[in-house]
Amino acid sequence: MKKIWLAGFAVLAMGAASVAWAQGDVIAARRAGFKRIGEQMTAMKAVADARGPGTPFVGGIEEMIAFFQGVPGRFPPGSETGGETKALPTIWSDPVGFSGAAAETVSKLQALRVAAAGGDGAAFQAAWQAVGPTCGACHRTYRAR
Ligand code: HEC
Repeated sequence: MKKIWLAGFAVLAMGAASVAWAQGDVIAARRAGFKRIGEQMTAMKAVADARGPGTPFVGGIEEMIAFFQGVPGRFPPGSETGGETKALPTIWSDPVGFSGAAAETVSKLQALRVAAAGGDGAAFQAAWQAVGPTCGACHRTYRAR
């Protein structure tokens, strides 16, 4: 009887550990994704500041759009813990606002994609400058400092 109980306990403990591991994985993956987004924004900044053509960035911007379309799905319930994360509980208490913030970034990135493909430096600069505030708007409400 005691053995059965112990075996059951071991299974439960393993279950809990794998859930924690899975959430840690989700957190690490989304953080790596956001880190890459930050790098892409920085890479574009130099060109945008110089009003150079954004043409080489079209593919990267498309990747960014795909990332942000998937942002709500990168924050499954339970992934507020289980790893080192700055995600705030507001993400889960206000999912509509959070998705809306991601959609706002998507819309500005779509405009950036058009400007980049068009090859006009001034248009690329203006469109690039319109993206950053949407990042900050989400971070202010949904990400810890
Ligand atoms: C819909 C909300 C939202 C939008 C829009 C958003 N972010 Fe974030 N970002 C977050 C959250 C939440 C985190 C914290 C993730 C975590 O720690 O689990 C984060 C984390 C980050 C990080 C830190 C990654 C790390 O190393 O841990 C960077 C860099 C970042 N975002 C850049 C950006 C940039 C640049 C944009 C705009 C192009 C942007 N974000 C738009 C919500 C958003």
